[in-house]
Amino acid sequence: MNEDVKKGLLGIVVDETEISKVMPEINSLTYRGYAAQDLCVACRFEEVAYLILNKDLPNSIQLKKFEKEERDNRELTKNLYEIIKHLPKKSHPMDLARTAVSVMGLEDKETSNSSPEANLRKAIRIFSKTPTALAAFYRIRKGQKLIKPNNNLSFSENFFYMCFGKVPQKEIVKAFDVSLILYAEHSFNVSTFTARTITSSLSDIHGAITGAIASLKGPLHGGANEEVMRMMKKIKKPENALKWIKNAIAKKQVVMGFGHRVYKSGDSRVPTMREYFGKVAKIKKNKSYEKIYDIIEKTMIKEKNIYPNVDFPTGPTYHLMGFDTDFFTPIFVISRIIGWSAHIMEQHAANKLIRPLAKYKGNKYRQVMDLNQR
Ligand SMILES: CC(C)(COP(=O)(O)OP(=O)(O)OC[C@H]1O[C@@H](n2cnc3c(N)ncnc32)[C@H](O)[C@@H]1OP(=O)(O)O)[C@@H](O)C(=O)NCCC(=O)NCCS
Repeated sequence: MNEDVKKGLLGIVVDETEISKVMPEINSLTYRGYAAQDLCVACRFEEVAYLILNKDLPNSIQLKKFEKEERDNRELTKNLYEIIKHLPKKSHPMDLARTAVSVMGLEDKETSNSSPEANLRKAIRIFSKTPTALAAFYRIRKGQKLIKPNNNLSFSENFFYMCFGKVPQKEIVKAFDVSLILYAEHSFNVSTFTARTITSSLSDIHGAITGAIASLKGPLHGGANEEVMRMMKKIKKPENALKWIKNAIAKKQVVMGFGHRVYKSGDSRVPTMREYFGKVAKIKKNKSYEKIYDIIEKTMIKEKNIYPNVDFPTGPTYHLMGFDTDFFTPIFVISRIIGWSAHIMEQHAANKLIRPLAKYKGNKYRQVMDLNQR
């Protein structure tokens, strides 16, 4: 590989951002200067969503207004419910999310208006409606009756309600809220960069988020939380974990939920999510996945010096909460819509078309032969 080529843009700084940073001095991911784990203690997800979109934490009046806007926009059009009903039941819900946001773009009255005010309004509409679309698909594909959003419930409570018809204990809702806070934003990761690249041609927010969802689906990015659960199901019981992980290491397999492009000695989101995974496991009286988790983590660090990323604890946490495995990455989507939207607005505010170069290594110039001479 030519040294001038920075494959994967490794180590390349492509722009400036005010939204988030992994701050080495506190070894933590920060949103607008606040450590994500501190926000998990002090705030609900809606407050953090407001912070990321609006640059500062809300006061109680601002929060009330933001929550009202989120709640008032949850309902889908009849058209979108019909589309969801007619999609193949075996579709991956990430493809449903991508399609639903794309349809929302067709239906939104402000699609062609990319002013900061319109973009903020549209971001909130996408944020409010996407969980409804996903929950509708969750139930429709199981042949269950659709449950409409309930405006008396918080963002997280409402998602549980729309999927399962009831709201779980407050500790479970808190664990879900924490996972959404930790997933909300992470600087120039692949899906966010996708959203910013789409935006850089002055395309609209629905298109940018549709593209970002497609990007998040891949197992090297958001799809990892699903793969973690599939791995844990394969391992089945704690007694099998050590043999399984040693074999995976010997075969040089990529172990899902480990490693990170930015954190090389531990993802700062993991301790918080690990704690809530433990709380959920205790409530659900299921310690088996925790034991598997600990054995794999210990062995990966000891033998490979590779640490878990946040997808490692979220996978089994969502499983214990009762979600189908293929809904884990869609849950990531309903949170990351916030980070993507903030980046889309930041890109619009100081735009430069993103258009890198490539080192050509194809054929030298050749003349086109007529069809009958080839
Ligand atoms: C996230 C990820 C794509 C980062 O990739 P990256 O920054 O390009 O780092 P690399 O893939 O070059 O990894 C560096 C080394 O660590 C190894 N490594 C990294 N993650 C690993 C993992 N999860 N399992 C096993 N080995 C891993 C690589 O094989 C490589 O070893 P080598 O130098 O001997 O070839 C990668 O760690 C990965 O595939 N993880 C699993 C998927 C995952 O959990 N994704 C969610 C990220 S939040």
